[in-house]
Amino acid sequence: MQQERIIVLDFGGQYKQLIARRVRECNVYCEIHPHTLSIEKIREMNPRGIIMTGGPASVYDEQSPTCSPELFEMGIPVLGICYGSQLMAYRCGAAHAVDGSHGKKDAETGGASVDENAQAGYAANAEAVKTAPVSEYGRTEVMIDAPDSLLFQDVVTVNASDENAKETVGSTICWMSHTDYIARVPEGFRITAHTANCPVAAMENPVKKLYAVQFHPEVEHTPEGKKMLRGFVMDVCGCRGDWEMSSFAERTIKELREKIGDKHVLLGLSGGVDSTVAAALLSKAIGDQLHCVFVDHGLMRKNEGDEVESIFGPKGNFDLQFIRVNAQERFFKRLIGQTDPETKRKIIGEEFPRVFGDEARKLKGKVRYLAQGTIYPDVVESGDGKTSDVIKSHHNVGGLPIELVRELGFDETPIEPLRMLFKDEVRRVGLELGVPRELVYRQPFPGPGLAVRIVGEITPYKAEIVRDADYIFREELHKAGVDENLGQYFAALSNMHSVGVMGDHRTYGLAVVLRAVITSDFMTAEAAEIPWNVLQTTMNRIINEVEGVNRVLYDITSKPPGTIELE
Ligand code: XMP
Repeated sequence: MQQERIIVLDFGGQYKQLIARRVRECNVYCEIHPHTLSIEKIREMNPRGIIMTGGPASVYDEQSPTCSPELFEMGIPVLGICYGSQLMAYRCGAAHAVDGSHGKKDAETGGASVDENAQAGYAANAEAVKTAPVSEYGRTEVMIDAPDSLLFQDVVTVNASDENAKETVGSTICWMSHTDYIARVPEGFRITAHTANCPVAAMENPVKKLYAVQFHPEVEHTPEGKKMLRGFVMDVCGCRGDWEMSSFAERTIKELREKIGDKHVLLGLSGGVDSTVAAALLSKAIGDQLHCVFVDHGLMRKNEGDEVESIFGPKGNFDLQFIRVNAQERFFKRLIGQTDPETKRKIIGEEFPRVFGDEARKLKGKVRYLAQGTIYPDVVESGDGKTSDVIKSHHNVGGLPIELVRELGFDETPIEPLRMLFKDEVRRVGLELGVPRELVYRQPFPGPGLAVRIVGEITPYKAEIVRDADYIFREELHKAGVDENLGQYFAALSNMHSVGVMGDHRTYGLAVVLRAVITSDFMTAEAAEIPWNVLQTTMNRIINEVEGVNRVLYDITSKPPGTIELE
């Protein structure tokens, strides 16, 4: 039986990933594709429904992303969001002007006949969308004109403030971000919601299963939005919700076994969530045909190398061949005298595949495939929406330059078992496979490691200081039970020396910076309010236990204007 699937067509909207996530929260598999996906390809994919995203364009610009009118004639339910809703009105052939008869069926409102529509031809839908003198932006009261709509039936409303909307039964807050609006709804459609400034906040043609909303149901600022999307996915599209992580793991293990057969696979294991879960999945599939290379560049957190080895090494819980490369010296040597943050990043970024390549050479003739823990946001982000299928790893397969991949005779296409999963789904698969909770839920750690947490030149001495201070901070946060609510938290080392006094002696030591942030997407962040006593205990311990430090600062900068890391 074919798995249920919803496809999101990307018209340049910034929330496309969020839409896909919301659909998957209904346990329905969802993929994002460029808006240029052909009608034939869509038919082949046989989705249960299609969601058209928003986007910054206007339907009348020649360069604007568009779609074939056939999209609305395939019998597949379609939901247009924001720009997607305007495009639906525009491409469906808008037939009757908005007359304020909210919630009434087309026949009652006297919408143009099919003939009239045909006579008007292109001109009819040329008036479908208009540009408002002012944009509507932010949280907006949306009057629900048709509470019987499958999109709104579960939505909780309050009394609408719009006194003129006689048939309006209630309103709900939705997130708006638009200047253009639908001015004429197509034949067969009814208006199902409006706002004070937007005559068509939602419209639908239930017979053809075409639905459109001007607002963004996918964002948190639309509190009832999840119910609307669920209504589309489950009630309009008729999905049952068969996308489960347990069946994903089972199916993927089977597919990996079939694809890999008796060949060997090489995976770069960093100890981060993605590569860890990829290793667990591959280990279940092919056991000791899997070779995991863990490169310790000397800029890992305290005990991290040993922890990764204890889980994946010979004494660990997974069946695989584990190779630990202690490459500290190599990295530190190349970093001598380097103070520029980007140069430091670049050096580490170049050295890593070299070390990895050296190990891969030793396995020449044995390994056929490279594997990596690419996840869905990596795929989508590197594809920029238009070319979502072209991923960056083609130039950098499994962390190795493509020339080396060819020279070593590896297959050029990496094995990426998590390629279609979001982070929270990866975590669920990890738990299914028995990866310890601490590893599955660990906070993100940057690829260049502590290098982005040491301001100025990096030395083994400074790395040791920041490692010890970081360990103490994390330990104290954990003891106090406040770590679970934090997005990211760590100690960094500033480049500042200052005067202090210890005992009867003058000191001249380094300043450690503590940073803890609350964030859900890591794009913006707020400094966390850590209880004062926890900060004080941490400060005392760092000063007493970490040599070379005589001052501890807490960073209260939000992002923006700061970034989460110091460099
Ligand atoms: P910033 O500092 O940009 O960090 O606010 C946002 C998120 O990205 C991580 N980060 C990195 N991850 N290589 C990585 O793999 C890097 O060079 C890098 N710089 C920042 C950071 O830890 C945070 O989660």
